[in-house]
Amino acid sequence: MKTSSTTPTRIFSGSRPTGPLHLGNYLGGIKGYLALQEKKEYDCIYAVVDLHGITSPYNPQNYPQQVQELVLEYLACGLDPEKAHLIIQSHIPEHIELAYLFSTIYPVSRLQQLPTYKDKKKNQPHYVNLGLLSYPVLMAADILIYKAQLVPVGKDQLPHLELTREIARKFNRLFGKTFPEPQAYLTPGAYVPSLTGQGKMSKTNSKSYISLMDNLETIKNKLAKVPTDTGKGKKIPSTGGVATLFTLVQLFQGEEKRKEYEKLYLSTGIKYQSLKKELALAIYQVLQPIQEKRNYYLRRPKLVRDILTAGEKYARTIARETLNEAKEKMGLL
Ligand code: TRP
Repeated sequence: MKTSSTTPTRIFSGSRPTGPLHLGNYLGGIKGYLALQEKKEYDCIYAVVDLHGITSPYNPQNYPQQVQELVLEYLACGLDPEKAHLIIQSHIPEHIELAYLFSTIYPVSRLQQLPTYKDKKKNQPHYVNLGLLSYPVLMAADILIYKAQLVPVGKDQLPHLELTREIARKFNRLFGKTFPEPQAYLTPGAYVPSLTGQGKMSKTNSKSYISLMDNLETIKNKLAKVPTDTGKGKKIPSTGGVATLFTLVQLFQGEEKRKEYEKLYLSTGIKYQSLKKELALAIYQVLQPIQEKRNYYLRRPKLVRDILTAGEKYARTIARETLNEAKEKMGLL
């Protein structure tokens, strides 16, 4: 456990257990979030937000395994239980109680206007439930129950962070100063493009991503399907399969290598077969240690349970304290 003479800044972040993480999740998010654990002045709590996960269609039979998988992947990606706390959201029911208290001070009409809610409504028209509408209220509770000041998230989550700050402000105004106004912490993550050449790598399109657990063969097969062209246009493309390959080359083999390929693209042409083979190897070299770490923890279920128990014990003490404070201020104790 980290000790520090000054009060550390609390960091909180969560991920939904929606399936195996891919390169985009890793390089664009989780890697940067986890790097924060290295700073002495930060006290980090990372959560598997399983209660958020069930606001979209899911399979209850598979769900425990999905939750466990995300726990393993957090550890595999480098979450160090000596430096940060790992929790499963539903194990700390205080989150839900605080979310209920918050729900009494936030207008329904504002929740209905959130872009994230509108998108979900469009994407899952048969699954528009109350939990989906109040999703950001529970998220505010996740953050504020630990009085977190910094929240590493992607840009898509900024409206939720704004709402969290609003709730903190309103609570403080109505019932007395209780919560800090947390800031989003945009970690410098990479943009990882889709293997299809269109948009970014995304869970929703299985043809778009390389999973963190893919073996070398699978990576090779997936790269083989990335569409290419001969470069006749004599211009470096900014979208499409070749652009994706160039970006991946840059991320995994460096800028110099990318420049070499760009030159070839504009002159004699690229031998894509060998580019893809080399790139597959370079990607696998990054994934291999992550996969080894996952297997290490997979073989040690008791260790994983102990890590969660310790994280949750730490988190729950803070959560209880904050919840009591909030209830007292609201006239409930
Ligand atoms: N809404 C976040 C996402 O979809 C997940 C999340 C839930 C979260 N609670 C949080 C992120 C608290 C940061 C802090 O990615």
